[in-house]
Amino acid sequence: MIFDILTLFPDMFRSPLEGSILGKAREEGLITVNLFNIRDYAEGRHRVTDDEPYGGGGGMIMKPEPIIRGITAIRSAHPEARVILMTPQGTPLRQELVKKLAHLSHICLVCGRYEGVDERVRDAVDEEISIGDYVLSGGEAAALVMIEAVSRLIPGVLGDEGASEDDSFSRGLLEHPQYTRPRVFEEREVPEILLSGDHQSIERWRRREALRRTWERRPDLLARAVLSDEDQEILDELRGSSGAE
Ligand code: 6GU
Repeated sequence: MIFDILTLFPDMFRSPLEGSILGKAREEGLITVNLFNIRDYAEGRHRVTDDEPYGGGGGMIMKPEPIIRGITAIRSAHPEARVILMTPQGTPLRQELVKKLAHLSHICLVCGRYEGVDERVRDAVDEEISIGDYVLSGGEAAALVMIEAVSRLIPGVLGDEGASEDDSFSRGLLEHPQYTRPRVFEEREVPEILLSGDHQSIERWRRREALRRTWERRPDLLARAVLSDEDQEILDELRGSSGAE
């Protein structure tokens, strides 16, 4: 997978991309990240990339020409690239969308600054994506989130233990509780069943705890999750024993 990043702040990407998982994925050639400074596509002695908004009001708006010149350069070299504008107005990034993006061969991420990009940039991109309902000063941190979420679904990026389809979240639920040694820590014990060696019972316990957690913390996720008849029974039981309904 190739990620081309168009940004005014390429330095924001360097250290995070050297980190353990992404650094190794790059070394092994599983992902490539190319950084392009939007300023390099700006013209004039001062290479200006922003300007005041028409109609007045505060803040500066990113000019369309430098960004679109950058996009055009990437598109002419790589017609297959999917160009995505990172913006809080975009489609919310969820694991389902991450899975679809992981099938692409080339993604170009355009990082806007918070005050915004000229509306005409939107016509030059294929898609707009947001990473959640809060405000960032720019798309850079969001692009990093996206690179990490997509990369870990690319075969070989995670070790065997990290089989990503195994993530509870990828099945639409929150993860069940996890424990490691010591068995007793500050008088709190690891649940007996996890020490039983009975793998079938352990799997049932984990599914139940994942359902419980999701129901307690993120009932919105349950509405979208794929649930078996047994899952439904467990949920009915949890609801019944809570005193609710
Ligand atoms: Cl993609 N960009 C910015 N600036 N803020 C955000 C975002 C993106 N996603 C959530 N907040």
